[in-house]
Amino acid sequence: MSQKPVAVSKLTEKDASAELARLAREIAEHDKRYHAEDAPTISDADYDALKKRNNAIEVKFPELIRPDSPSRRVGFTAVAKFGKVKHGVPMLSLDNAFDDEDVTDFVERVRRFLGLGDDDELAFTAEPKIDGLSASLRYEDGELVLGATRGDGEVGEDVTANLRTVKDIPHTLKGRGIPELIEVRGEVFLGHAEFERVNKDQEERGEKIFANPRNAAAGSLRQLDSTITARRPLKFFAYAWGVASKLPGKTQTEVIEAFDAWGFPTNPLMKRFTGVPQILKYYEMIAGKRASLGYDIDGVVYKVDRLDWQQRLGFVSRAPRWATAHKFPAEQAETELLNIDIQVGRTGTLAPVAKLKPVTVGGVVVSNATLHNEDEIARKDVRIGDTVVVQRAGDVIPQIVRVVEEKRPKSAKPYKFPDRCPACGSHAEREVDDDGEVSAARRCTGGLICPAQAVERLKHFVSRNAFDIEGFGAKHVDAFLADKMIAHPSDIFALAGRYGSGPKAIAAREGWGPQSAAKLFAAIDARRTIALHRFIYALGIRHVGESTARLLALNYGTAKAFVKAMIAASDEDSKAFAELDSIEGIGDTVAKAIAQFFAEDHNREEIARLLDVLDVEEAEKPKTDTAVSGKTIVFTGTLEKMGRSEAKARAESLGAKVAGSVSAKTDLVVAGPGAGSKLKDAEKHGVKVISEDDWLKLIGG
Ligand code: IVH
Repeated sequence: MSQKPVAVSKLTEKDASAELARLAREIAEHDKRYHAEDAPTISDADYDALKKRNNAIEVKFPELIRPDSPSRRVGFTAVAKFGKVKHGVPMLSLDNAFDDEDVTDFVERVRRFLGLGDDDELAFTAEPKIDGLSASLRYEDGELVLGATRGDGEVGEDVTANLRTVKDIPHTLKGRGIPELIEVRGEVFLGHAEFERVNKDQEERGEKIFANPRNAAAGSLRQLDSTITARRPLKFFAYAWGVASKLPGKTQTEVIEAFDAWGFPTNPLMKRFTGVPQILKYYEMIAGKRASLGYDIDGVVYKVDRLDWQQRLGFVSRAPRWATAHKFPAEQAETELLNIDIQVGRTGTLAPVAKLKPVTVGGVVVSNATLHNEDEIARKDVRIGDTVVVQRAGDVIPQIVRVVEEKRPKSAKPYKFPDRCPACGSHAEREVDDDGEVSAARRCTGGLICPAQAVERLKHFVSRNAFDIEGFGAKHVDAFLADKMIAHPSDIFALAGRYGSGPKAIAAREGWGPQSAAKLFAAIDARRTIALHRFIYALGIRHVGESTARLLALNYGTAKAFVKAMIAASDEDSKAFAELDSIEGIGDTVAKAIAQFFAEDHNREEIARLLDVLDVEEAEKPKTDTAVSGKTIVFTGTLEKMGRSEAKARAESLGAKVAGSVSAKTDLVVAGPGAGSKLKDAEKHGVKVISEDDWLKLIGG
């Protein structure tokens, strides 16, 4: 932008309308250049500035929001849809086997069909059945040219751009024997740890929480904005293929080994067996490992190893005759619902927890299960005294699947969800957002006067990513709170000076001594100086997780500036609010949660007390005057002088942006030994590639 635009606060309605029209046109044009032509003509920062300005004007003049507003579109393709892909070879489903007998039958059927004698060897591969979604990747001369979802098996969707962001999927195949054309198929999925991270991130952004890793993976892959997919750490296992000009083997095992050599992840648990007893033993072994695999599986797949036999066996309707899925029994059990407990979280959410008569589910004793929220209880019509079906999947919290209505006692009444907080008696309300949508959660309005929220907030305040006060764990919070030594976070810093709470008094408490007490006070003192983002995170504002706290710290720089701006923003019609809301990465939900937090007197007072006793450090602004500031950098291969995360942190502290894949927007690729497809990508886009040593020179060692 050459000319400094008129401040949003000074725009007349007429100017605003004209400018929104101009911005819609201009942003759409840049979207097209970037996404469709891979040839952007402005920098990311300038593009972001356009979008930010558009949003700021829309906040000020909501009645002027255009139907084609850039804020209403998610990325470029939102208006378009995914293209359709007809699969050259259909993507089939599998028949199921539910017990040993089904497996024996399957093997017998195969033997009969092939006319094998009792002494003829029949080998199968066995591997976990991953609970994700399948994808087909088309490679021409070893280059990924198309990626599609399964769709209805015949026609899928073109999600090439999204699949390209999956780190496990090679853009270029390596090694020998790569055919002119091959479609490699496999499962896209999210691991348990990644799933938790994605949901945490979603929660911080005020976005929808995914019910399970499969849904999260599917939602991620079918994203219209592939930058969102890129943020989701999707994984891939190759286990099948479609059209191929030539196959790299005569057996399933050989082809999968070739896939592995070409650079695909393949499941290390895949094995080859020749008899039913061995297969069943393998099944038991995998069932035993299920909980510790780190990703969801729902059974084991057996496939005839010889490809000529697969060919002869062919298909019945939509499933191959040469393969079957041996499913795990659902990890479910029936038990009695003794009570529904309402727990109050840090931000006041009333969370219903089912108290169960203890029951073993999948080898683990379960006595609590989540009931999610009041709508869920109503939908399932769960009543105290009911017999319920409980389910466990992997490490996920047990859930109530349904009520066994035949076993309902006559006396059981529909559950009435409380409209008052069980901890403080304040009204508990359901929020209604701007679109008139009622939130699923009922929330206590007691704020800091609510003891349940106070405990949880205090625990959050001292937690690892917040103030991280060593030796001040959840246990101590409970004990000190119970003895009325602390009620608010600021009390922690006043402990030493208070009669009855000083080092001597603490040392005299049960489980404490002079040494541990002295240590505690030293730890508290050590945290009187704190980074701004930790301070913001520690406040426990709803939807403000670590990454949002960092964003806020960067944008406002100092605690004083932050608090001043947020107090101003507590009026949602203010300029300060519009500014907060227009920060890239901070959505409406988050901005509103912050505004509401700062609208409360008791929160403002507590912050003032904290700032009195703390020294909150200024946020380190990304540098704008280094050789790499404003540049987008990609690291690839092994870095020998420093680890990846250190390299990334260094680059970012020098004002660079670090990206995961190479595009036309990349300014520089730093390549160490073992660098692969990213080098090719760099060549394709004409991006400069330098060695790690050159990089160190560039940034001054
Ligand atoms: S083989 C022609 N192997 O299960 C057979 N499928 O119920 C191709 N799946 O749509 C499938 N893990 O999404 C195969 N190791 C595995 C699998 C697997 C998961 C899924 C796949 C398929 C579905 C069929």
